[in-house]
Amino acid sequence: MRWSTAFIPTLRDDPADAEAVSHRLLVRAGFARQLTAGIYSLLPLGFRVAQKVTAIVREEMERIGAQEFRLPALHPGEIWKRSGRWEVMGDELFRFRDRRGADVCLGMTHEEIFASLASEIRSYRELPQIWFQIQTKFRDEPRPKAGLLRVREFTMKDSYSFDLDLPGLDFSFQKHFEAYRRIFSRVGLDALAVEASSGAMGGSESVEFMQRSDAGEDRIASCAACGYAANVEKASSALAPVEDAAGPAAPDRFATPGVRTIEDLARFAGGAPAERQIKTLVYVLDGATALVMLRGDHALVEQKLRDGTGARDVRPARPEEIRAALGASAGSLGAVGVAGLRVLADLALEGRRDMTTGANQDDFHLRGVDVARDLRVDAWLDLREVAAGEPCPMCEGPLEVGKAIEIGHIFKLGTRYSEALGAIVQDEQGQSVPIIMGSYGIGIERTVAAIVERCHDDKGIVWPVRVAPYEVVITVLNPKDVTTSEAGAQLYDALRAAGIDVILDDRDERPGVKFKDAELVGIPYRITVGPKGLAQKQVELVRRRDGRSQNVDLQRAAEIAAESVLEDRS
Ligand SMILES: Nc1ncnc2c1ncn2[C@@H]1O[C@H](COP(=O)(O)OP(=O)(O)OP(=O)(O)O)[C@@H](O)[C@H]1O
Ligand SMILES: [Mg+2]
Ligand SMILES: [Zn+2]
Repeated sequence: MRWSTAFIPTLRDDPADAEAVSHRLLVRAGFARQLTAGIYSLLPLGFRVAQKVTAIVREEMERIGAQEFRLPALHPGEIWKRSGRWEVMGDELFRFRDRRGADVCLGMTHEEIFASLASEIRSYRELPQIWFQIQTKFRDEPRPKAGLLRVREFTMKDSYSFDLDLPGLDFSFQKHFEAYRRIFSRVGLDALAVEASSGAMGGSESVEFMQRSDAGEDRIASCAACGYAANVEKASSALAPVEDAAGPAAPDRFATPGVRTIEDLARFAGGAPAERQIKTLVYVLDGATALVMLRGDHALVEQKLRDGTGARDVRPARPEEIRAALGASAGSLGAVGVAGLRVLADLALEGRRDMTTGANQDDFHLRGVDVARDLRVDAWLDLREVAAGEPCPMCEGPLEVGKAIEIGHIFKLGTRYSEALGAIVQDEQGQSVPIIMGSYGIGIERTVAAIVERCHDDKGIVWPVRVAPYEVVITVLNPKDVTTSEAGAQLYDALRAAGIDVILDDRDERPGVKFKDAELVGIPYRITVGPKGLAQKQVELVRRRDGRSQNVDLQRAAEIAAESVLEDRS
């Protein structure tokens, strides 16, 4: 490609609306353009990178024996109704009606369609199978943001495994685990595999691949000592046991005028520090009101509430619902003496005594509460969010908590979809059994953006060679000079002949502009061809990654550049 005829609309300034580095650089360097909120066009450079990522993903999927399909993006609503997800998916599923009035939707994932195809598998002898596709997904995200990181239309590699039994599923899962490790390392990421919640898809084991980044919307807890890592939606910690005083024989009610929050009560004379308070939250779980109890200084993870109760629809109760249920407002709630409501308590409260909590009367609290004696707990659950510095649940080393981008997700589904969609086989004994499924996803554009988050400097993107839109740029300093432009063209031909992705910057622009563009766009190697060097039969070879520069003989330049590229590719 010649830069003079290429469409690479680099911008002089950062786009005003972009906060994430990848958003800023991908727009500024001419890789992507927004059409509307959460919908982007990939321009030629962006598409080249996406294609390279896709090729690596495809290669690694094929390496584990996966077979590629292409499924429809447009689905009849009926198939989603059969799995029960037409309702569950809420507003994230783009739904509409066709001209005959039938419900249709745009696929946000493809368990239903693959499971219905798997209904043609009749016998255990045809198992296992791994099926995949690389295709567009649509999700009406509530908050599309950060450029390509969270969009409403994107490309996903999604694969599905079909096994007869649980050991088979474990094996398919493990194969994906290893394929994902290879994929992310090949594209230049250092993804961390973390334990995750199984979420709305229904399933058991779930692992997310995370790239640490401040642009990430997920938070992960990790332990440097033993390697434990989990999404905070799932992470736990080993809290030090607390020795409480016995406290009074019964809770003691006391006036707390104006006290509304945990902090208020911690400051109030005669109150209690946050870690000696019981926080009471009121939630509506699938329509039923429940009390959620945590230590005063602990935060609730709503996902843990979903996972722990199996509730699909989880929301905080509204003020009027709270008053109707408990007779007080949010500042003075407690579970002591409450009957008829489900009480869910976080494990950190187990066995605690002499605690302080709301009295279910505004401006009053109770102290001396003995959890075992005074609270009727229906279920003990892990509900709280871990905090940095708390002991690791595996080795008690200190946990770190940091932001990360979820780039891949692998997960054991079980039989939910095969049962709903009739993917049933005969086992060795001739019994009909549902196929056991796993489901595995990688977002292509999100991966591209994550690479930029990791690989950039103050001059622009620094693409790893394996995914770079071009591997070498030949910058011709004075294209009007025939000798220079001919030398550039010869290098270009030689590199192309060597199978290198090369672009010839033959534009009639100042050298500074060309250098800046090459750095912004992030091409790993630059060969600068100019009259001065040519007088010595030399050109300059510069590595983008570290700026390392060397003068090389014109005759050997193509060979040396090609060698460097091939070495980085392997
Ligand atoms: N809105 C999106 N924009 C871009 N990529 C996405 C989006 N949603 C999901 N992906 C990609 O698809 C992969 C598999 O999808 P999955 O359903 O597991 O994501 P998810 O759990 O909904 O992600 P998130 O928690 O970020 O919404 C993700 O790991 C991610 O790489
Ligand atoms: Mg999502
Ligand atoms: Zn540990």
